[in-house]
Amino acid sequence: MFNVVKVKDYEEASDKAFEVMKEFIKPGKVLGLATGSTPLGLYQRMVKDHKENGTSYKDIKSFNLDEYVGLPISHPESYYAFMHRNLFDHIDIMEENAHVPSGLGEDLEGQAKHYDEMIDNDPVDIQLLGIGSDGHIAFNEPGTPFDSPTHVTDLAESTIKDNCRFFDNDISKVPTQAVTQGIGTIMKAKNILLIATGANKAKAVKDMIDGPVDEACPASILQKHPNVTIIVDEAAASLL
Ligand code: PGA
Repeated sequence: MFNVVKVKDYEEASDKAFEVMKEFIKPGKVLGLATGSTPLGLYQRMVKDHKENGTSYKDIKSFNLDEYVGLPISHPESYYAFMHRNLFDHIDIMEENAHVPSGLGEDLEGQAKHYDEMIDNDPVDIQLLGIGSDGHIAFNEPGTPFDSPTHVTDLAESTIKDNCRFFDNDISKVPTQAVTQGIGTIMKAKNILLIATGANKAKAVKDMIDGPVDEACPASILQKHPNVTIIVDEAAASLL
C-alpha cells in the first residue's frame, strides 16, 4: 500500500522525509540508507538535528543499498566515501555499525551473501530509496528478478549516462558494475520511504504507482509492500 505525499519541491520533500525518518532515529533501530542526489537534503537535516538537538546514532545500525564494483573506498565517488562525506562523518554512528557493501575483493558473490545474512540478523526498520529514471531501485535495473538477493550486477546504459555527471562527464570513467541489495532484500524492510523529485522521474513514478507489477519497472514491486511512503514533488508527480 502506498501513502503518496505530494509536496512542492525538493526542499519540501527533504523536510517531509526528515519528519518520517526522525521517528526511526532511536536506539536499537536499523536504517536502510541510500546514495545519489535525492537523499542529500534529508542527510543535511539529519546532521543539523544531530548537532543542534543532540539526536544520537550511537545505538543505531545502518545498511546501505549498493556500491560500485572496483572503485577504491578512497575514491570520492565510491558510495562508502559519499556516505562518510555526507552523513557518517557528521553524526555519532559507530563505524562498525554503518554498513556499506564492498565492491572490492575476490569473492563478491560470497560477500553479497554475507551482507544479506547481516541484514537478516538485523532487519531494516526503514529503507530509504530513490528511483532511477528507468524505474530502478538501488542498482536493480529493469528485468531484475523480484526475489533477487544482494548480488553483483551490470549497470544499464541509461544509469551509466545518468551517473556520468559524477565522473567528470566522462562515460569511460563510470564503473559498469555494482554490488546491490536485491529487490528481495529491499522488500524485507519493515517500512520503505521513497523520495522522487524532478521531471525526469515522472514516468518512473507513474509506472511504479499506476503501472502493472512487472520486472520491466523494478519499483512497481513496491505495490506489494505493506508499508511504503512515497514523497513526490510537483514535477515528479506530473503524470499521476
Ligand atoms: P538520484 O538517483 O538520487 O541521483 O536521482 C536515484 C537512483 O538512481 O536511484
